[in-house]
Amino acid sequence: MSETLQTTMARVLGLLREPPEAPDTSAGYLDLFGPPAKPSLAQSVMESAFLPRIYEKVWRPVGFNLAKGWPFGPDTAAEHALAREWLGLTDRRPATVLDVACGPGNVTRALAEGVALDGLVVGLDASETMLAQAVGDPRANVAYVRGDAVDLPFRDGVFDAVCCFGALYLFDDPWAAVDGMTRVLKPGGRLVILTSRRPTPLPAARIAGELLRRTTGFTVFGDREVTRALASRGFTDVRRRRYPLMQMVGGRRP
Ligand SMILES: C[S@@+](CC[C@H](N)C(=O)[O-])C[C@H]1O[C@@H](n2cnc3c(N)ncnc32)[C@H](O)[C@@H]1O
Repeated sequence: MSETLQTTMARVLGLLREPPEAPDTSAGYLDLFGPPAKPSLAQSVMESAFLPRIYEKVWRPVGFNLAKGWPFGPDTAAEHALAREWLGLTDRRPATVLDVACGPGNVTRALAEGVALDGLVVGLDASETMLAQAVGDPRANVAYVRGDAVDLPFRDGVFDAVCCFGALYLFDDPWAAVDGMTRVLKPGGRLVILTSRRPTPLPAARIAGELLRRTTGFTVFGDREVTRALASRGFTDVRRRRYPLMQMVGGRRP
């Protein structure tokens, strides 16, 4: 392991609730757990060997840009810029940032562009194949952890900003995940989430969404469900951008 990676890993260990006695960093990321007990169908796709290879260049831009209403919605670069703006990462300060369910590190690296080299962006994901892709494109101020987004391994109040893009809809318990993201934020820290959106309040859409969740594990969130989740946890400055099939929601922890 390079000296830079050793230094960033040491900083990551300092953020953990229960740092392991013998940290496993043999794959280039800190591995904190074995495979999830029983991944849903949607989660297993993310664990495959094939998807991570085409995710960033094909799957992500095509799928997400269509869901965001291409050509009217933000493209990937505009989405990343908006994430940095909402998280207050526009002045390259030495912030400590968490990217929950970072996949191959596409958003993690975009966040790192807004953080000073002596800051730290931690990408966390459950998928070994996604993380293998992520560590293939290293940055001085980025480190990766294999762990569970629904039970974050970090201490309370250690992050200035938390981002969770394209993943809340995959979690078994998305609200427990939001509780965890809130817990690890410093008071005044900012959270931004990009997730699914039910395009209509019609009961048929709700029923179809419930069917999708039960069969694949993929959740389609109601129009105000995520903003309400932040407001009920005391977040201030709650804001939202709506796209045809996605929504970006942000706020500041009290
Ligand atoms: C669609 S990718 C999102 C990647 C990136 N954040 C983006 O916006 O493009 C979803 C990621 O969520 C991860 N994931 C799903 N459930 C998870 C969990 N419980 N804990 C950690 N990662 C999880 C998957 O392994 C996958 O890499």
